[in-house]
Amino acid sequence: MSAETTQPFIRDLKGMAEFHAAEDLQRDVWGPDDKIDPGDLMMVIQAEGGLAAGAFVGDRLIGYVFAFPTVTPGVQHSHRLAVRAEARGLGLGLKLKLYQAEWCLERDIRLVRWTYDPLRLPNAALNIARLGATAATYHRDYYGEMGGINAGTASDRLLADWRLDGERYARCRAGTAMLTAAEAAAAHRIALPADFGSLLKADSGAASAERLRVRHEIEAAFSAGLVIVGVDAREPAYLLGRSSSNRAE
Ligand SMILES: CC(C)(COP(=O)(O)OP(=O)(O)OC[C@H]1O[C@@H](n2cnc3c(N)ncnc32)[C@H](O)[C@@H]1OP(=O)(O)O)[C@@H](O)C(=O)NCCC(=O)NCCS
Repeated sequence: MSAETTQPFIRDLKGMAEFHAAEDLQRDVWGPDDKIDPGDLMMVIQAEGGLAAGAFVGDRLIGYVFAFPTVTPGVQHSHRLAVRAEARGLGLGLKLKLYQAEWCLERDIRLVRWTYDPLRLPNAALNIARLGATAATYHRDYYGEMGGINAGTASDRLLADWRLDGERYARCRAGTAMLTAAEAAAAHRIALPADFGSLLKADSGAASAERLRVRHEIEAAFSAGLVIVGVDAREPAYLLGRSSSNRAE
């Protein structure tokens, strides 16, 4: 039986050795030539009210989440979420986010927001369809040029707004769909590549064309007052509607 088939345990990181393990995990997940968040910085941010938590199997760190307070009371910015490649698809990313939600609610934090690459379907599905975040803010080339798994493409990012109260969060906790079939059918669709990571490795020209197409379609939809409220993972697409109840007001 592999280590990853044992039930993982999630808790806040403690001690510098665990923060250094979180550095190693970042190198493994994002690639050795991407910049990582240093362990000492994560430790101090945790000490000042941030969240740095890990999923462990025995002593081995197999996933982690890192977030910090913002200037707005009750709002947290979530900077990193990662699960080691061999432990993906087992519900651990979801468990780390639910741990984060409970941690925040205990501290009266009702909104968590983070950026993610709009072209990464697993992230979009987790953030929008499973957790119930919405997105209404688009940043072109937010981080500038990046290395690792993000090398070779503009670092466009969507801002996900995850309200920890209200109907969508209740659906997240219950594991029910964010949209009814009728809402999904009526939504404005923006098609997504099924596997942007592979496309980027195989054909950087095609990946850039997809980046620009999705950028323009999302920006046009946001300008028209639409908000991303769903993701269709089977026929990959964003689903947009007029609801803005999850935004960071
Ligand atoms: C994003 C990431 C953390 C997801 O972790 P994970 O443990 O594999 O995710 P889970 O197994 O908990 O999946 C939760 C939900 O995400 C979605 N999801 C995950 N992988 C998916 C995939 N390959 N395709 C479509 N949806 C996917 C599904 O909605 C899934 O819920 P379901 O199983 O009920 O359908 C992981 O892929 C990762 O570390 N990626 C690299 C780093 C990264 O991109 N971090 C996030 C930055 S925002």
